[in-house]
Amino acid sequence: MPNISIISASVRTGRNSHRAALYFQDYLTDGKLAEAEILDLKAYNFPIFEDKLKAQKSPSKQVLDFAAKIKNSDGVIIVTPEYNGGYPASLKNAIDLLYEEWHGKPISICTASAGDFGGSQALVQLQFILWKIGAWTVTSVFPIPRVQKAFDENGKPADKAATDKLAHVFLKKLLESVAAKQQS
Ligand SMILES: Cc1cc2nc3c(=O)[nH]c(=O)nc-3n(C[C@H](O)[C@H](O)[C@H](O)COP(=O)(O)O)c2cc1C
Repeated sequence: MPNISIISASVRTGRNSHRAALYFQDYLTDGKLAEAEILDLKAYNFPIFEDKLKAQKSPSKQVLDFAAKIKNSDGVIIVTPEYNGGYPASLKNAIDLLYEEWHGKPISICTASAGDFGGSQALVQLQFILWKIGAWTVTSVFPIPRVQKAFDENGKPADKAATDKLAHVFLKKLLESVAAKQQS
């Protein structure tokens, strides 16, 4: 079974996008599609970026743990909120820590916003920087408008049938990319 890491990017108290990370974890594990672990940037609590892991003389346990988990993941889902038309600083802070770990890594993007557009502006920015750093960004995306209503606190979707249908396509594309990578 593939091993998927789900990066939950919001570190905000009362965050709502984390609900989508919980949903994807349940979807993948309940469906026996993958082993799925949430890499919670709120829990990692990385300090503001000073330098890449490779350049750090005494990296913290948290940074080493994060790097190892990304390196050993077959694929990654990034769940990010949209703040002022972009992705949050917490996410760039974590992406810039690593380098080779991202190369050729299949990554699917889920964006979430309180408004009607589901984080489409953050998506464009994030796709660009992931391309720049050499990741394989999967073309199928998962925008969530009004995320506060779309899932409850435990990640249960308000409309399970419709959400599962979208997730099926989104995750199928990720798992296909993971399989293609494993064959290459
Ligand atoms: C600094 C900041 C800026 C935000 N800007 C937007 C925005 O441009 N469009 C939008 O729909 N929601 C915006 N929101 C609301 C978030 O999308 C909302 O909180 C949503 O639940 C996802 O973020 P969360 O996971 O931190 O809760 C903003 C929230 C914050 C904290």
